[in-house]
Amino acid sequence: MTPDAPVPAAGGPTYGSYLALDTLLSLQHPLSEHPDELLFIVVHQSSELWFKVILFEQEQLVRQLEGGDAERALWHLERINRLMRIVSEQLASLDTLPPQRFAEFRGHLGTSSGQQSVQFRILEAASGRREPAFVELLGRQGPIPPEIQRHLDAPTLESRFLALLSREGLTLEALYTGPGPGTHYFLAEALLAFEQEFARWRFLHMQLVERILGPMTSGTGGTLGASYLQRTTMLKLFPELWRVRKRFHGGEE
Ligand code: HEM
Repeated sequence: MTPDAPVPAAGGPTYGSYLALDTLLSLQHPLSEHPDELLFIVVHQSSELWFKVILFEQEQLVRQLEGGDAERALWHLERINRLMRIVSEQLASLDTLPPQRFAEFRGHLGTSSGQQSVQFRILEAASGRREPAFVELLGRQGPIPPEIQRHLDAPTLESRFLALLSREGLTLEALYTGPGPGTHYFLAEALLAFEQEFARWRFLHMQLVERILGPMTSGTGGTLGASYLQRTTMLKLFPELWRVRKRFHGGEE
């Protein structure tokens, strides 16, 4: 604390108590003595913390889309997009983990894998991933957790946006052909930016895995590692937002 910082009121919060730092900083439990394992744990933990905020913001976004407030929906989406960028950027710190050093503590991880991240799966489901292979993947480790199923059963972000447009007598095409870019157009583009930020994470994570494990080494979760992840970089969440582009270039709808 700086000398002129306000003295906390007696019994009031301090920096440490407010942020529960004693608890937070005691939650890293390396399974080996390896000096690189702390970084590995913290990048995963901080990603999960950011996923928590992104999911919270996504709930606000859904509420605004349902309530028809496009400006506020845009505000939440812009925040989500910046947070997704942060989650992606922190992967770069693991580029400094040499493959031979990761191999020294990888055995301690057993079959644990990012593939088991419930928050990541909720984010995919809430955003709009619905293809049968995804549902099959979710069911592979037992019954699909109810918090994921709830999102699978709900409309996707894109269909909520299209419903908002239709309630206002608009169409997606009209946003791209009308008199000039307005809030709904920027919202459409921010949704597309979200999809691109998500794909950026997938790509950077795939590259990280390729760099550390090599392109064909299986993951601790039992997939084909980087080659499995490479296929996921092609996934699309918002088909209508992609389709609308095609029609301006002579393509089929
Ligand atoms: C040394 C760093 C890392 C390595 C070697 C690595 C490796 C892998 C591999 C091989 C997979 C495929 C599933 C499997 O067979 O295990 C995977 C999936 C995944 N990892 Fe990582 N990972 C790393 C860092 C991270 C970080 C920092 C996060 C942040 C949360 C993360 C989150 C995920 C998620 C969510 C999946 C599932 C992706 C999907 O199925 O589309 N990983 N990881």
